[in-house]
Amino acid sequence: MKVFVTAPAKINLALRVGAPRPDGFHPLDTVFIALDLVDDVMATSADGLTMSIEGRGADLPIDESNLVIKAARALQTRVGKPELGAHIHVVKRIPVAGGMAGGSADCAGALVALNELWQLGLSFDELLEIGAELGSDVPFALFGGVAHGTGRGEKLSAVPAKGQLSWIVLVNPEGLSTPAVFRRFDELVDGGEPASTAELREALASGDIDRIAQLMVNDLQPVAADMRPDLATLFAELGARSDVAKVMLSGSGPSIVMLVDDERAAGIASELAQIYPQLEVVHAKGPAAGAQVTHVEAGA
Ligand code: C5P
Repeated sequence: MKVFVTAPAKINLALRVGAPRPDGFHPLDTVFIALDLVDDVMATSADGLTMSIEGRGADLPIDESNLVIKAARALQTRVGKPELGAHIHVVKRIPVAGGMAGGSADCAGALVALNELWQLGLSFDELLEIGAELGSDVPFALFGGVAHGTGRGEKLSAVPAKGQLSWIVLVNPEGLSTPAVFRRFDELVDGGEPASTAELREALASGDIDRIAQLMVNDLQPVAADMRPDLATLFAELGARSDVAKVMLSGSGPSIVMLVDDERAAGIASELAQIYPQLEVVHAKGPAAGAQVTHVEAGA
């Protein structure tokens, strides 16, 4: 049997961060949106547990450190069947280390694909729970759509959103370590409870792009700009453009997301690609579905 799954990239429309908890994680109040930029995750019956990657990230480790293999191990442990085998092939389109949770998407894709391949019958809530143990962004990759995230980002509830929004993501090839950004946040900011994203969630229900743009905010943006002067320069240059509704750091960076008018998106994207040849320009729309089975081939 062969199971085909797609799993989406995400961006945070708001990321409010509080002071670290005793376990070191930061309490978040965040709004996620899934994009129509997806990785394909295909699981085939096999002896043992192996994986391969095609497209981007062909040089990523494919051993036990990969979140896809970790997802498979977590499922084996959950059902007490370490003998379950599979080969998982990932076609990667989501930029690697781009702040769009591509690794978490593949992890979520593997959970969904193997639940089907191995006929485990685990519920969506059980997959969310297993995903939360594997990474803060994994539950949202399962959830999809637009969601309000609390806790360390893993506690989710759906947010009604009107229409599709058009996004340009500037992917920076020089990575930025998530733990390092959070540590620098602690040095620079005296965080208490994270601020609320309630107003943004209300604006999403109305689909008013200007209002949404006004309310998008990322508490990690000044921190990333402090750590990376090149990002500070980019924020200044992009923020001066009149054809972009909002420019903001994506997650813990270093990617930058821009909310744009859909009709102008293609033109803006090609112009940005010329101005910033060192960056990758991705155009995507959201909301999109969470990790889901698209089809199953018998036999194989
Ligand atoms: O959960 P995940 O593996 O994505 O987190 C990566 C790192 O990001 C954590 O080890 C932690 O340093 C930081 N983090 C945090 N607070 C969060 C999410 C992540 O401090 N809510």
